Amino acid sequence: MKEEKIELSFVRAKLHELSAADQDLIKTAKQSFSNAYAPYSGFLVGATVLLENGEIINGSNQENVAYPSGLCAERVALFYAGAKYPNISIKTIAVSAKSTTFKVNDVVSPCGACRQVMAEYEQKQEESIRILLHSPNDDVLIANSVEDLLPFMFTSPLLKKH
Ligand code: THU
Repeated sequence: MKEEKIELSFVRAKLHELSAADQDLIKTAKQSFSNAYAPYSGFLVGATVLLENGEIINGSNQENVAYPSGLCAERVALFYAGAKYPNISIKTIAVSAKSTTFKVNDVVSPCGACRQVMAEYEQKQEESIRILLHSPNDDVLIANSVEDLLPFMFTSPLLKKH
């Protein structure tokens, strides 16, 4: 028996320390959460995807009275990007959130299903996706790959017989 450790890498920054392009993506993600449909949680999330061709795709969470039928902002944006530009790589996804009922102090943290979807697109495009997670205090957590957000991820080689 042997204990092993995994090293994850990410950067914590203040919004103003980011490049102008990254700040713009976060600004767009913030604007996108005003399109959220979140009557059940009051938690409004915006996600902005930057593609290799410079296109920007926005998503926001879309809830449903049958709760599991709703979808997170990240997957709305990623699936929209995948459907509209199936052969264009995703460079960056920026995510920001606010609540209608309390002050959000932490960076928004994508759920496991959204991380898994990011992992799928990374595998598909064989290129990392940068992830910018923003808080209303203008703290930003930057990961250079979903590998840093989802250790032991399930990937397609694990589906094949060796
Ligand atoms: N949500 C997102 O859209 N993205 C996240 O990263 C965290 C959670 C949504 C799902 C649901 O509509 C609401 O926030 C509360 O969980």
